[in-house]
Amino acid sequence: MDFSLNQDQLAIQHMTRDFARKEIAPHAERLDREAEYPKQIFDKLAELGFFGMLVPEEYGGLGLDAVSYNLVLEEIARVCASVTVVLAVHNSVSCWPILHFGNRQTKEKYLPKMARGEVIGGFALTEPHCGSDASAIRTTASLDGDTYVLNGQKTFITSGSTGGVFIVMAKTDPTKGHRGISAFVVEKDFPGFSVGKHEDKMGMRASDTTELFFEDCRVPAENMLASEGKGFKVAMASLDGSRIGVAAQAVGIAQAALDEAVEYARERKTFGKALSEHGVIADKLARMKVWVETSRLLVQKAASLHDQGLPFGHVAAMAKYWGAECASKVADEAVQIFGGYGYIKDYPVERYYRDARVTRIYEGTAEIQKIVIARNLIRS
Ligand code: CAA
Repeated sequence: MDFSLNQDQLAIQHMTRDFARKEIAPHAERLDREAEYPKQIFDKLAELGFFGMLVPEEYGGLGLDAVSYNLVLEEIARVCASVTVVLAVHNSVSCWPILHFGNRQTKEKYLPKMARGEVIGGFALTEPHCGSDASAIRTTASLDGDTYVLNGQKTFITSGSTGGVFIVMAKTDPTKGHRGISAFVVEKDFPGFSVGKHEDKMGMRASDTTELFFEDCRVPAENMLASEGKGFKVAMASLDGSRIGVAAQAVGIAQAALDEAVEYARERKTFGKALSEHGVIADKLARMKVWVETSRLLVQKAASLHDQGLPFGHVAAMAKYWGAECASKVADEAVQIFGGYGYIKDYPVERYYRDARVTRIYEGTAEIQKIVIARNLIRS
């Protein structure tokens, strides 16, 4: 068993770390405070090819392996988790399903411009009345000649107002449960598409999250992914991969919180010695380190299985569940070590604490991950 990264993986990790520190970190506090969408940062990330990380070179992407891709997400999340969520949704649940389930025409039409970052991708599954129970969606799609007509509403959509292309799940046969769901590539300029309320979020404030509406929205039939009735599987397969990305994001947040806590514990003196020399604080730092390392190992295991073409969904669920729990715990302990300074916005641990929270909710809650893990355990 080899836990080391290869030369290419190390190179992209170091390049991303350097870029993130120089080009993103100086702006992270302001982006969070102003809930500002960092267009200029995304333009620079596009120049690096980071909008086409999972897109093969034939469609203009980098064609990275899953290990490298998740290293990139972790490094960016260490400085600004909001930037990661936009990149992760674009790459994992927008480009990836087009690549794996789109016909050649759809791939050629969308992937090159998405890989260049000219068009940002989103993923529209969740609706106001159903998030975890994904097969209960009510958005419908009915065939009319050579177009499907979509009607319904989606909510909590990352890049809802800044995105140009969305993978939208809708029921082509509402009588068939999950087998009546189909997936479509929908452009924001299609007639009948509109953006609703912008959410004012606790964390990940530099990413935009909105409602989407479809009112007799006409989508060409060739924009269907896979085939009619296969949309639930398209969504689930896409989420399997993207959950590794959320876990990598959680590891990045946790590593950042740990780094800040270690530095503060070395410098801050209480009762005549550094905080780090108090057993109670050393105990916290040790547990935080174990949480970060075990989370990262699960990310790398899931990504490595993915790269080898082996079943990885249950490991992705474990990585997502554990990474998210640990990020919350590490950020919470970092706030505790900072004391009163951890509770004000002068130090970044307060932001890490807020950003970490959603990793236990989006792309499948902790409870859903445990269902996936337990079902796999029981079935095997
Ligand atoms: N890959 C492929 N197919 C899969 C699959 C997978 N990972 N998981 C299930 N399926 C298939 C099953 O094999 C089954 O197929 P058949 O029709 O052949 O029997 C079918 O899908 C139904 O499976 P289940 O009976 O297991 O389905 P379920 O209704 O019990 O739900 C669930 C399973 C895992 C709970 C699922 O509903 C789920 O993951 N829910 C959470 C949804 C979620 O993560 N939403 C987040 C949206 S994205 C987001 O957060 C916004 C953003 O922009 C960041």
